Amino acid sequence: MEALLLLALSILTACQDWGVTLPADPLAERSGSCVTIPCSYTYPEGQLVRAVTWSQNKERIVELTAAAGQGYGKAERVQFLGDLQHNCTVRLNPLALGDRGAYSFEFQTQSQSWRSPRALCLTVSGLDQFYFWVHNYEDLPRGPSLQFEQGTTLSYGGNYTCTEWVSGTRLGYLAISPTTYVAILDSIDWYQLSPGPMAGFGAGVLLLFLLSNLRV
Ligand SMILES: *[C@@H]1O[C@H](CO)[C@@H](O)[C@H](O)[C@H]1NC(C)=O
Ligand SMILES: *[C@@H]1O[C@H](CO)[C@@H](O)[C@H](O)[C@H]1NC(C)=O
Repeated sequence: MEALLLLALSILTACQDWGVTLPADPLAERSGSCVTIPCSYTYPEGQLVRAVTWSQNKERIVELTAAAGQGYGKAERVQFLGDLQHNCTVRLNPLALGDRGAYSFEFQTQSQSWRSPRALCLTVSGLDQFYFWVHNYEDLPRGPSLQFEQGTTLSYGGNYTCTEWVSGTRLGYLAISPTTYVAILDSIDWYQLSPGPMAGFGAGVLLLFLLSNLRV
């Protein structure tokens, strides 16, 4: 009976060893897509997780701490969906070419820090596409379209221009849309501004150059 109990105990502790489970295969995704990396982690009973960190090529990109919540290293496109218990799922949205690399997860308890010995390799294909809107010479948040909602004030009126930056590993160009004048009237419900005329690219291309040695 005692032996059985010992056996059961050792199985239990074996299951709760230090560990991180990542997808077995490398991930290959397209730029602009939304990628979720499923992940789980275990540790011996009695440990309390204080902080968790995801790194890309050893550089911290997102962390969650018991004391300060979620913090970002460099990109707000990275979101930690897990918790301080056993879930270390992370999401990258939208994915950019520079997101390729080796991803590893690390967690810290009151007694030690533990890093996954294996990193997950992520490759990204396609072209990066970023939109920048300028309103009366002021930069606005990124995004392919702008929305005006109810409560929009007169100060939102004026000239809007959209610039699109497209880049790949060896090539990049900038396209610019014609300026659109927006007049805000009293009763606006909802209005969306899209860089429509730029869709053909040809007319608006300002620059076309080779970035043969530039890492994007
Ligand atoms: C981990 O969290 C993600 C996001 O909340 C969820 O979709 C997933 O099911 C969780 N995994 C486990 C094993 O609970
Ligand atoms: C918008 O552009 C037009 C034409 O270039 C110009 O006359 C006007 O002053 C601009 N309005 C603002 C608010 O910048």
